[in-house]
Amino acid sequence: MHRHIHMLLFSAAMATTFVPQAWARTGQKSPDQRAAELVQKLTLAQKIQLVHGMMPVFLPVAKRPEGIAVGAGYIAGLTEHGIPPQVSTDASLGVSNLNDPRKGDVATALPSGLALASSWNPSLLHDGGAMIGSEARAKGFNIMLAGGVNLVRDPRGGRNFEYLGEDPLLAGVLGGAQISGVQSNHIIATIKHFALNDQETGRNIASVEMGEAAMRESDLLAFQIGIEKGDPGSVMCAYNKVGGVFACENPFLLNDVLRRDWGFKGFVMSDWGAVHSTEAILHGLDQQSGEQIDGKPYFSTLLDAAVTSGHIPQAALDRAAQRIVRTIYAHQLDAWPVTPNGKIDYDANGAVALRAAEEGIVLLRNEGGLLPLASTARTIAVFGGHADLGVPSGGGSSQVTPVGGFKLTERTGSGIAAAFAKKAYGGASPLEALKRAFPNADISFDDGKDPDAAAALAKRADIAIVFAEKFATEAEDQSTLSLDGRQDELIGRIADANARTIVVLEIGNPVLMPWQSKVPAIVAAWYSGQRGGDAIARVLGGVVNPSGRLPVTFPAAQDQLPNSLVPGHDAQPLDKSAKIVYGLGQTKPFDIHYPEGSDAGYRWFDRNGFKPLYPFGYGLSYTRFSYSDLRTSGGKKLSVRFTVTNGGDRKGADVPQVYLLRPGKAKRLIGWSKPELGPGEAKQIQITADPRIIGDFDVTSRRWIVPAGTYRVEVGTSATSAVLVGSVTLTKQFVKP
Ligand code: GLC
Repeated sequence: MHRHIHMLLFSAAMATTFVPQAWARTGQKSPDQRAAELVQKLTLAQKIQLVHGMMPVFLPVAKRPEGIAVGAGYIAGLTEHGIPPQVSTDASLGVSNLNDPRKGDVATALPSGLALASSWNPSLLHDGGAMIGSEARAKGFNIMLAGGVNLVRDPRGGRNFEYLGEDPLLAGVLGGAQISGVQSNHIIATIKHFALNDQETGRNIASVEMGEAAMRESDLLAFQIGIEKGDPGSVMCAYNKVGGVFACENPFLLNDVLRRDWGFKGFVMSDWGAVHSTEAILHGLDQQSGEQIDGKPYFSTLLDAAVTSGHIPQAALDRAAQRIVRTIYAHQLDAWPVTPNGKIDYDANGAVALRAAEEGIVLLRNEGGLLPLASTARTIAVFGGHADLGVPSGGGSSQVTPVGGFKLTERTGSGIAAAFAKKAYGGASPLEALKRAFPNADISFDDGKDPDAAAALAKRADIAIVFAEKFATEAEDQSTLSLDGRQDELIGRIADANARTIVVLEIGNPVLMPWQSKVPAIVAAWYSGQRGGDAIARVLGGVVNPSGRLPVTFPAAQDQLPNSLVPGHDAQPLDKSAKIVYGLGQTKPFDIHYPEGSDAGYRWFDRNGFKPLYPFGYGLSYTRFSYSDLRTSGGKKLSVRFTVTNGGDRKGADVPQVYLLRPGKAKRLIGWSKPELGPGEAKQIQITADPRIIGDFDVTSRRWIVPAGTYRVEVGTSATSAVLVGSVTLTKQFVKP
């Protein structure tokens, strides 16, 4: 019913340009068959039209396509063949409106990727994806550039806030769920940025040098799992080089791994400004995105000439066009056309953002049970983080202008980041939410700029709550793990003045906490999105029992990191004469080496015996859980069973994690669960391990090998706290790549 009404409404509104054809209700033909038939009918010009896209925002308003939503990208449709225009928007955290191309448009802002990942809850990621995808559809977009699953390798990475943590299984499972949610709206999602675009320094020019096995067991595995779980219509290839070859013309990545080994059937679009040749179409790239940024019409005029001259076989163009068309069919973009100005229930969508923010808050420290705050608290002093205005968000293409708009923006960043980096605060204000949560308390706010005044105010209050923030943005990595400015000093002064101090971290990356021992309660709220202030107040007030667990390791010191400084921090500036193509930044090419190889994050800490400040998987609760009855079974398939019991007096969700240890190897997360249990309730959990997580990738025979042997199994509350320990014997296994 909905569908027919939808299509009737559409055809009435847009009868002049695009009417769904009878063939939209296909018979038995597969998307691939339909696409093959259609492409045979297309002219060279029509095929070329499908494979290159531009940024409408770069066009003068008068030249912008009629009735099309202005976002990240646009490709005209083939109306006479029932192919809709391809209209794309960013990104994983909601429909962005960077630099306001759709004057005044807003959208529901999900919390940042690390907050979403802290939920360890695939169904939440799916719901969040479904919600932002519905807003993309309602605003007229049928492609959403979501699905960032690059691993957090360096905790100073500028875009880590957007991504889903340091572990390939966690990132892949959650990324796949998010993609599946977005695509439930009959739109296409991407998975990005393929591959190893794990830092911003030199992102457009540096080459990541890593052995194939290490790639396969880490970043590539996150993509492989995300593609299996989410079936993204498109893969966005990355800016950087891998092994000296740009990712968007890298036959190893795009033809061998993605197609030959993984059987990916969708299409590969470039990142915006990531194309360097027309020959890329021979190496697996199907679509040039944001072509104005590349500065060359690689996949339009130059491709036309190359095909006409025979330099590029016609078959290569046909293949790219067919991949795009079959994906349009497979995700029903033709049968479910989008139109701008659809109806959006921002209240209902805000509730999804609230749930995501609540499940993403990680309780790191709660000495003496200071939290949840007693309702009898009489005076509460709130400091910093512009908590009176809203919550911060990360900078760049993923930044969403929240419903209600930004209350404050500050340009920041350097180099190419200056085009993106906008410190911005919006969404629900933590201060206002705290006032609603504690109506009988006298709540004051101080911006924290004057530590003396702040300390004096803290001294007079029952409770001090400090909002500590650290800005992160696309196109620029952070140079240290410390909080910005004089916040460490501020927190120390407030904690010295008031023994009941709470620190709320609004961060896009792990941070150092020199004041940690002086602060009884610490929560990581990340960039908490549209309803972040409400989520923070509801967790601090105990309305919500925190269940977040860290998706990234918090180092205790910078020298625990594989690279003491971000690779390329010392790259040579480009010669003044060099034409600085967009994003190529201002540096000469350099290589990036990640000494950890496949052992990103907690695996590196385990391998080196380093003790982190807070480990991967860590998070506290207002109740307490216990684990018992561990049973394992091995042979060809490793499965683990155990019981979780809520021994406390209030409902709560726990995230028991299962790790596998092999002699001489770093431990690996092989599974988890997120049971919600009432007081005294118990539940049996069963985890079955994917052999690709356990095994090693053997490059010679191009397959995964699980060596026969006896392995240690740990069930724990983090990567460093095993509660149950057992062993399991596995027989040798081979798994295709
Ligand atoms: C950006 C990002 C990518 C985004 C695209 C379009 O530079 O790398 O994630 O989707 O360009 O804005």
